[in-house]
Amino acid sequence: MPSLIAALDQGTSSSRTLIVDAQGRVLASAQREFTQHYSQPGWVEHDPLDIWATQSATLTEALARAAAKLSDLAAIGITNQRETVVLWERATGRPLANAIVWQDRRTAGICAQLAADGHAPELQARTGLLPDAYFSATKLAWLLDHIPGARARAERGELAAGTIDSWLVWNLSGGVTHLTDVSNASRTLLCNLHTGDWDDELLALLRVPRAVLPAIVPNCGALAVARLGGLNIPITGMAGDQQAALFGQACLQPGMAKNTYGTGCFALQHTGTQAVRSQQRLLTTIAWKLGDDQPLHYALEGGVFIAGAAVQWLRDGLGLVHSAQEAQQLADSVPDSGGVLLVPAFTGLGAPHWDAQARGLLIGITRGTTAAQVARATIDSLAYQSAELFAAMQADVAAQGGPPLTELRVDGGAAVNDTLMQFQADLLGVPVVRPVQAESTALGAAYLAGLGAGLWPNAAALPALWQEQRRFTPQMSTDERKARMARWRRAVERARDWADD
Ligand code: G3P
Repeated sequence: MPSLIAALDQGTSSSRTLIVDAQGRVLASAQREFTQHYSQPGWVEHDPLDIWATQSATLTEALARAAAKLSDLAAIGITNQRETVVLWERATGRPLANAIVWQDRRTAGICAQLAADGHAPELQARTGLLPDAYFSATKLAWLLDHIPGARARAERGELAAGTIDSWLVWNLSGGVTHLTDVSNASRTLLCNLHTGDWDDELLALLRVPRAVLPAIVPNCGALAVARLGGLNIPITGMAGDQQAALFGQACLQPGMAKNTYGTGCFALQHTGTQAVRSQQRLLTTIAWKLGDDQPLHYALEGGVFIAGAAVQWLRDGLGLVHSAQEAQQLADSVPDSGGVLLVPAFTGLGAPHWDAQARGLLIGITRGTTAAQVARATIDSLAYQSAELFAAMQADVAAQGGPPLTELRVDGGAAVNDTLMQFQADLLGVPVVRPVQAESTALGAAYLAGLGAGLWPNAAALPALWQEQRRFTPQMSTDERKARMARWRRAVERARDWADD
């Protein structure tokens, strides 16, 4: 009996595959990076054929490393960079252009116009999102407007569009199946948060023909069939990467939350079947729907644009260190930052500020300030920014009578930094918990696929697969925490509204 799961994790900078067994153990993994295309300032593109080639290559490599075959796979799970849009021809499967990546800002003007025309409250009410170039809809409309003939062909049903999950399923199914899961759909600005379906008024406002869009399916079940090596392998789990990480961290109860410390940070708190409308400029997003007859679950989400990227700046911009590990050692050589704060608003500030004109700020420097203190301030900035996000989330959740945050589960590259995790717990005032298995995103896809394939009877079986590796308990006094956060907010205020353009 086939009993393994292949979890495909298609990220912004690399494609990965994990082979997971029925006990939730990772048997092998493979990863391939691919080229980023920056053809104009503010533009970020991926070649969809690169995405498919690297993803399928890692599936082959991971299977080989696990000494397994395609016929050992009970199911495939998919998780992916969200919001990124691909447009292709149904008849040939040929992409019409490079994918426009979530980071791409080319449609910022369109979004500013939507806001100026007063559409922001309606968009927030229907989608939980803001009119921002981050989301898929304006990127897709841009492709339809700029590729000759594309809009008319899309209306005639000749073209297919989708986020990366759709593109992978299309290719895995041999050009048969065009679908997206509800968590990815909820990042497009086209999906109604409350129905989990495309919203005709949003399609009209954002000028996207329904005929180009995929069907929306739940996050687990018999979703599609991959035709690989002459076999039919069921695809039984799919989710956008941040929602998959929330699931992989077994944050299955309302109030549970995770933070992923990568290039940026993505913080999500599960709010159960209640879509909490944010008063703090956070995003409300669909977390998952575990089957056709199951309810939609929601999350509040906030993103920090520059997190690990600030450490990269220490290395590449300042030349202070040669690696992230050296930055950590340098930072750990001092007890604290000596009053120095870094607000890494290098590309503006994300939630809850959404200030595109903010710029980076290093403040509190004296003649005695050392490189180690600057390194410490840089790493501290990940914790400060995340603490601000969770403060905003707690305000939103409390306003709706939801449960308070009791612990934060962490993953991503910088979650291995013990000093940072302790500081995060101190600033939050709740324990920070790191799991044994750091691969939350791919594991989330594996858990969804395993559930969908019947490897586990129901979601209640999943928390037993999740194991705590280390718990960081807050040690800072409430007064000190408040004073530090107040000082941070003063620094943020000084960084705001700075750029001239
Ligand atoms: O919303 C964007 C996010 O899904 C990208 O995640 O991990 O590929 O950078 P990542």
